[in-house]
Formats: sequence, C-alpha cells, structure tokens
Amino acid sequence: MSAQLDISNVSKIYPGRRGEDGIHALQDVSLKINKGEFISLLGPSGCGKSTLLSIVAGFQTVSDGFILQNDRELVGPSSTRTVVFQNYALFGWMTIQKNVEFGLKAKGVPATARARRARELLASVRLSGFEDKYPHEISGGMKQRAAIARALAPDPEILLMDEPFGALDAQTRVLLQEEIARISTEAGKTVLFVTHGIDEAVFLADRVIVMSPRPGRVRQEVVVPLPRPRTAEMRADPWFVSTVNELWETLKPDWQKEEKQ
Ligand SMILES: Nc1ncnc2c1ncn2[C@@H]1O[C@H](COP(=O)(O)OP(=O)(O)O)[C@@H](O)[C@H]1O
Ligand SMILES: [Mg+2]
Repeated sequence: MSAQLDISNVSKIYPGRRGEDGIHALQDVSLKINKGEFISLLGPSGCGKSTLLSIVAGFQTVSDGFILQNDRELVGPSSTRTVVFQNYALFGWMTIQKNVEFGLKAKGVPATARARRARELLASVRLSGFEDKYPHEISGGMKQRAAIARALAPDPEILLMDEPFGALDAQTRVLLQEEIARISTEAGKTVLFVTHGIDEAVFLADRVIVMSPRPGRVRQEVVVPLPRPRTAEMRADPWFVSTVNELWETLKPDWQKEEKQ
C-alpha cells in the first residue's frame, strides 16, 4: 500500500526582499506517512517545521519537489487536512458549540446533524457542559480542546498541529498530550505534530522526525516502540528516558547556537 502522504524532495525558498537573498527554509525533505500514523516533527526554532506544516496544509507552495496525498498531487487547502495552531483563533463572537459547527456549515451539513456532531466532538474532548460558553469564558487548555474539536469536525484524514500546546502551563500540556494521543487513536487520524519539545515529541509519536537547522532537512528518524494507549508512567520507561537524553545530546548544539543568535 502506498503512503497516505508522500512528501518528496521538498525544498522551500522564501523570496528575499528587493536586493536581498531569499531564505532557504527547507532542503530536500522526503517523508512518507501512513494512514493512522502519528508523526512528530522535532527541531529547533527556525528549522522550517511550520513551513513544512503549512505546505502540507496547502497554505504555502513548494519551491521544488512535490507532495502526494493518496497518490494525487496535493494542491491548496482542503477539509481533508485541518490545522490546530498554538494560538488558534476561535471566533470570539461565537459559542464553543458554534465554533465547532462552523466547518460543518461550510460543508453543507444540515443544522440538526451539525449540532449533534458538534456535541459528540465536544464530549470527546471532555467539554460537555461548556457548549454555550464563549472563548473568553474558558481556560487556555479548554480553548485548545475546542480547537481540536473544531479541527476534527469536518472529519479530516490528516490533522496538522503546530506547537498546539506551546502556550499552556506544564501541567495542562501533559494532560492535553494524553488527550490528543487518545483522541487521534480513537478517531483513526493521521497526525503531523510540530514541536520543539523532545519529551512531547517522543511521548506522542509512532515516529519522531528530527530536523536540522536551516535549511531544514530530515537528519534522523526515531521509531517509538511504546504501546498505545500512551500513559503517564511511560515517561519513566528506560527506553523513553534514554531516547529523550540522546535526542537532547544531538540537538543541544543547535539550541546553543540559537540562544547565541
Ligand atoms: N512567510 C515567510 N516569509 C519569509 N521567511 C519566512 C516566512 N515564514 C518563515 N520564514 C523563515 O523561514 C525559516 C523557517 O521558519 P519556520 O518554518 O517558521 O521554522 P520553525 O517553525 O521551525 O520555527 C525562518 O528563518 C523564518 O524566518
Ligand atoms: Mg514554527
């Protein structure tokens, strides 16, 4: 069976401003992702993670190479690929329920079915009882839960997440990591999850793709043998601990360079 997503020799150069060189964000990135796989894309800031994610989302074009989704060239955004950002702008003037329904309305789903589906999704991210709240009335963690429900609403094949828990406090982040591991498995979604958190990348993924600093390339791939569902105790698993340490040793020089800049 061919991969659901086939990223083939993708390079990206952002054009420079007049008289300046362009920014070489990605160089020859190839990555095949199978249906239902959870892939963490790990690397220091500026290595092109968000660029790759937004190319897969269809928001940016490649400078070279191509991407296939189910053997067809991927062009432009699609409701088969939805995105959760760090600061997902939920519509402030809509209730949580209406925010989740939004993508279904665009797809022409009738009102009753829409309402039912949104309630189911909100229950799956444990937000039952908060349907009628507005975004400013709920916590950051709850907003990200709502953003996940909204991204799942059109029943996408692929969920794209760009540092979705980056703005949350450490405890909430751990809770949401466990949630997204559970939800993506239950819903059978393929996930491409961008993070600079080593621990988070390993905890969530079937495979961790480690990127090098600019221009971003795939430098290493780590297959994670931990079973699912992923649970908190796995962070103490000897394999987990030593893998996180090894990745830290690999990535440390990049972080040190980043810090000096
Ligand atoms: N729209 C853009 N125009 C020009 N340069 C960009 C744009 N987006 C990102 N870049 C540059 O491309 C490089 C990679 O950025 P990005 O993909 O955001 O990395 P990451 O998400 O890993 O931090 C950075 O040097 C960044 O400044
Ligand atoms: Mg980024």
